[in-house]
Amino acid sequence: MLLDHTDTTYLISSALADEVRTGLTQQPKRLSSRFFYDAEGSRLFSEIMHLPEYYLTRSEYEIIDNYKEQWLRLFAADNRPFDLIELGAGDGLKTKVLLSHFVEQNARFSYSPVDISETVLDELTDDLRQKLPTLTVKPQHGDYTDALAQIVQRTASEADSTRLIVLFLGSNIGNFTPDAALDFYHQLSALLRPGDMLLTGFDLQKHPAVIHAAYNDRQGLTKAFNLNLLRRINRELDADFNLAAFDHYEVYDPERGEARSYLVSQTKQTVTIKALDMTVAFDYGEIIHTEISRKFTRQGIGQLAEQTGFSLSHWFTDCRHYFADVVYTKNR
Ligand code: AVJ
Repeated sequence: MLLDHTDTTYLISSALADEVRTGLTQQPKRLSSRFFYDAEGSRLFSEIMHLPEYYLTRSEYEIIDNYKEQWLRLFAADNRPFDLIELGAGDGLKTKVLLSHFVEQNARFSYSPVDISETVLDELTDDLRQKLPTLTVKPQHGDYTDALAQIVQRTASEADSTRLIVLFLGSNIGNFTPDAALDFYHQLSALLRPGDMLLTGFDLQKHPAVIHAAYNDRQGLTKAFNLNLLRRINRELDADFNLAAFDHYEVYDPERGEARSYLVSQTKQTVTIKALDMTVAFDYGEIIHTEISRKFTRQGIGQLAEQTGFSLSHWFTDCRHYFADVVYTKNR
């Protein structure tokens, strides 16, 4: 972050500053969920993963535990070593199951977690060095595509036959609009070589009530997670959002397969954001759109592969068919 002090006002240039400046002057107001994950936001999300309503994590955990042997055979095919690159590693709860199994089997591989939160990445790396001391961990901090580009470069200079396996678990893909997902998968595809694999966790369309409940937990953790974005803006941009004056609201639209989260102003109010030298007026009940969590169909998942230079090669699901971990192989 860059602080530029002039007499009474100062300008901050950061990704969050840009987002707030543009997002809160739009109609309807919006802020991207990519800013949820400061230290507190990452902690809250770890708690959400244990909620009874938040089925996503348990479903994917079931898949990983059931198919870890099969995945190892797939990743290590033709006896090639592999680099397991995890985009948005978070606290690595699910991945640890996979990593321990691979280590036990003496697989020839390294693990490269990628995350935008440095805190989260440091904690994960320390934890893994303690629990799995023989595992080679190569953390890469940053933006997904930048980090992946660096890993690709590093691997290319090693000039060996290392296969790249990119993991994008947890239905993080759901936070992308359809266009952004296409764009992102094109970029991943351009970075990977034929035979490299991309394993994505997709939350599947199911009874709308089940999805709705996952984003409206009774403990109010999802609400706290959403509101934490305002707390972060208060701290990082010297703003005065009164968190008690905003509520959490979520809708699931089963026709589009979209869960959308909002912050709702419970009163007519004006917020000052000192670091941006701006004030923002909110009307009674005015919303800020903060997150989209898309839910997928098998057809949509197949199309995404076809449109971006991959082939859908393997499909794994849990017993309730709530979630799918899908392997795309990069085409020749
Ligand atoms: C981490 C993006 C997969 O969209 O389900 C959880 C984030 N938001 N509860 C999701 C989230 C509200 C989560 N992802």
